[in-house]
Amino acid sequence: MVIAVENIVIDGPQRLVGKDGKTEFVVREATMKDLNAVVAINRAVLPENYPTWFFVEHLEQFPKAFIVAEVGGRVVGYVMSRVEYGWSNLLKGKPVRKGHIVSVGVLPEARRLGIATVMMLRAMKAMKVYYGAAEVYLEVRVSNTPAISLYEKLGYKVVGRIPRYYSDGEDAYLMACPL
Ligand SMILES: CC(C)(COP(=O)(O)OP(=O)(O)OC[C@H]1O[C@@H](n2cnc3c(N)ncnc32)[C@H](O)[C@@H]1OP(=O)(O)O)[C@@H](O)C(=O)NCCC(=O)NCCS
Repeated sequence: MVIAVENIVIDGPQRLVGKDGKTEFVVREATMKDLNAVVAINRAVLPENYPTWFFVEHLEQFPKAFIVAEVGGRVVGYVMSRVEYGWSNLLKGKPVRKGHIVSVGVLPEARRLGIATVMMLRAMKAMKVYYGAAEVYLEVRVSNTPAISLYEKLGYKVVGRIPRYYSDGEDAYLMACPL
């Protein structure tokens, strides 16, 4: 599967085939009905867990950039985002509207199919088109090589390092990408 950003749909479900050439998945906006599954995936795959109201708040405020993926009708991954106004992470001293990828997760059995790539591309395109974001940023553990590789393939660059960002003391890379 090679999918260009021009082919990413941002106004309805999109059905695609994974990089294995056979697994079909659907990428779409999340709804309130998906939140139990999203919270469960977050708890299963990441140490950074949030209360349910935090997911609800993001879904209510930025529904176009809260994306899930389904395989066989089961939610297997999500990208939760927000859009903020603040200093650019790419152009020093410039105030911008910037997307923030808050949390990304894909269940282990659905990985390496391109699902995170498509969900990220959709969230990023939606941030730009619906919410006017000019750039996007995220934090990632400095040891999280799979995620860093995913983000680099999507065009993100490391623009900073935040000491002891995580509760266990690990540093984060701040990564950003123009939209
Ligand atoms: C990171 C994560 C979201 C990737 O999901 P995914 O659907 O498997 O990602 P994709 O299939 O779109 O992979 C895209 C690219 O990411 C990189 N990547 C993904 N998994 C990787 C791994 N285990 N090792 C190395 N690179 C990896 C690769 O460059 C991959 O491209 P390739 O398969 O052509 O080599 C998933 O592994 C995950 O949920 N991890 C735990 C949660 C997490 O770390 N979230 C990010 C926190 S900031």
